[in-house]
Amino acid sequence: MISVVLPTYNESKNLEVIIPRICEVLRAANRDVEIIIVDDNSPDGTAAVAQKLAGSYPVSVIVRHLERGLSSAVLAGFEAARGDICVMMDADLSHPVEKLPEMIEPIEQGRSDATVASRYIAGGGCENWKKHRQVISRVSGLMARGITKLSDPTSGFLAIRKSFLNGIQLEPIGWKLALEIVTRTNARVTEVPIVFKDRLHGETKLTNKVILDYLIQLWRLYDYCHPKKWQVLKFIVVGFSGFLVDTTILIAIVELFGLDPRTGAICSFFAAVTWNYLLNRLWTFPYASEPDSTSFIRFLAVCLVGLSVRLSIMHLLMEYCGMKGGLMYVGASMIGIVFATAVNFVGAKKFAFAKST
Ligand code: GDD
Ligand code: MN
Repeated sequence: MISVVLPTYNESKNLEVIIPRICEVLRAANRDVEIIIVDDNSPDGTAAVAQKLAGSYPVSVIVRHLERGLSSAVLAGFEAARGDICVMMDADLSHPVEKLPEMIEPIEQGRSDATVASRYIAGGGCENWKKHRQVISRVSGLMARGITKLSDPTSGFLAIRKSFLNGIQLEPIGWKLALEIVTRTNARVTEVPIVFKDRLHGETKLTNKVILDYLIQLWRLYDYCHPKKWQVLKFIVVGFSGFLVDTTILIAIVELFGLDPRTGAICSFFAAVTWNYLLNRLWTFPYASEPDSTSFIRFLAVCLVGLSVRLSIMHLLMEYCGMKGGLMYVGASMIGIVFATAVNFVGAKKFAFAKST
């Protein structure tokens, strides 16, 4: 049996069209079907419409009152599914229902674990899309290039063998469940071309929050796929935030308390080191032992080594490489910072936050 999961939020009018169509297409292809509507208590009465349709079609309805969100809704539907193949698709008729047989065949034949519909392979496309939507879609896709080979990473039309979902760990934030599943598993994927149409009734639920969720999801997936590179990046991000803390506190101390900038710099250095220590412990090296004074002192030692590397390089560049005049010292300092960061990273990883054995 095929379980088609339709996440819905205010799709009452579309359900009346899509449910009969799904049944028609899959029955013509000799497949058993159940349709699972997962509605987040839409104000337009989508759930009631779905219940009514359940009288004439193989439809079951899940209404969630406490949770909202596309991916988590689809996962709830997958959990309730009784078929061996689960499909997720939009309820607004943007995804062509007649492609369902083509989506499930590679899985039935054992050639794939999942199929993902693509607008960006031969035969695919978008109908009547405004320029800005095309650009947004392309850019969102490009941003996922480093973690997936999917030609259409933001696709919302997916079929998957139900047994494949058992025991996989997902963080279903936002909308891109297909990307989440494909990236976090070693699923064998087939892509099926589709032409994406404008929704039939109603309006899109895509908000800025959805875009932000996508960025967070991408960050986590890059972290998952490239843990080593991402650890370095996190360390640099923390370092940069520490630099901002350092500068803010320095200015505050000098301007508010009238202290000498050099005294201020000592205070702000310690404040920034503490800040960096906590963030690195919680975020960059989350596996390290609990924050304690010993690891803090080790981190402080690493930072002091880093500082001396920075000063030595700066001194060399200024005295022996002519980086003295005008604002050249800033360049010298920056080069010093680059080397110091490398030293700090290695020190933090191997010494301050070393994995306890
Ligand atoms: N249960 C539930 N909860 N369903 C939701 C929610 C929610 O919070 N938000 C949206 N949906 C449902 C909609 O009712 C619709 O069936 C489907 O999810 C897609 O929502 P749309 O609002 O139609 O999204 P879209 O057309 O802008 O985006 C679609 O195309 C994009 C590609 O351009 C989606 O398929 C995206 O995943 C895809 O990236
Ligand atoms: Mn839509």
